[in-house]
Amino acid sequence: MRDLPYNDRENDMYALGINGSPRRGGNTQMLVNTVLDSLKGSGWETEFAQLGGEKIRGCQACSQCFKAKDGKCAFQDDAFQGIYDKAMRADALIIGTPTYYSGVTAEVKALTDRMGYVALANGRALKGKVGAAVVAVRRGGATHAFDTINHMFLMSQMVVPGSVYWNIGFGLRREDVKNDGEGLANMKNLADTIDLVAGAIRPLASRWPEAPGY
Ligand SMILES: Cc1cc2nc3c(=O)[nH]c(=O)nc-3n(C[C@H](O)[C@H](O)[C@H](O)COP(=O)(O)O)c2cc1C
Repeated sequence: MRDLPYNDRENDMYALGINGSPRRGGNTQMLVNTVLDSLKGSGWETEFAQLGGEKIRGCQACSQCFKAKDGKCAFQDDAFQGIYDKAMRADALIIGTPTYYSGVTAEVKALTDRMGYVALANGRALKGKVGAAVVAVRRGGATHAFDTINHMFLMSQMVVPGSVYWNIGFGLRREDVKNDGEGLANMKNLADTIDLVAGAIRPLASRWPEAPGY
């Protein structure tokens, strides 16, 4: 979280949206971009990052991040570090995934495992950021994928805002989600809530509760 005065908010808040689907221009990307566009309309700087289809390995449990404590994963030859560095700058992080067999994509699981672990090793570096999971689904299993992402957020001292439903959009083929008016309206409500919550908690950043040592 950047250390800028609360009142100097114009174009000051920064949101990173991540597309965990390998299908570029698909439903997940549309949902993530609906949130980002709405935040942009509220004066946020926004950035979109493509993760699905990129090379990213899972956490190797080497715990090198706990030894080095330099904000880096030991594995620098894939998509992880670039996205992690952007996430460190972000006031709000939106991670989108399509539902694959009721779960997140392999790329999203690899990212969230490593992001959670490297952040934990570095003074719980995600604490005080806003996190939102966004899920595309044809028919069933979206809430499980939604929960998987939120589990990482919720034990990283992040703040997860609610919206008017779980953040889900329905569609099978690319762009089908355009026809899910309720899903898209939910994304806009989510963005408005992110804007409200991130602004409200920003002055509290230096007062975030310390985690007990264990
Ligand atoms: C490997 C695979 C597994 C899938 N599993 C599910 C599933 O469990 N439930 C479901 O409703 N849709 C499932 N789908 C459909 C996608 O979730 C759906 O088409 C979604 O809109 C894709 O989002 P995208 O356009 O961002 O890739 C699956 C699709 C693929 C390719």
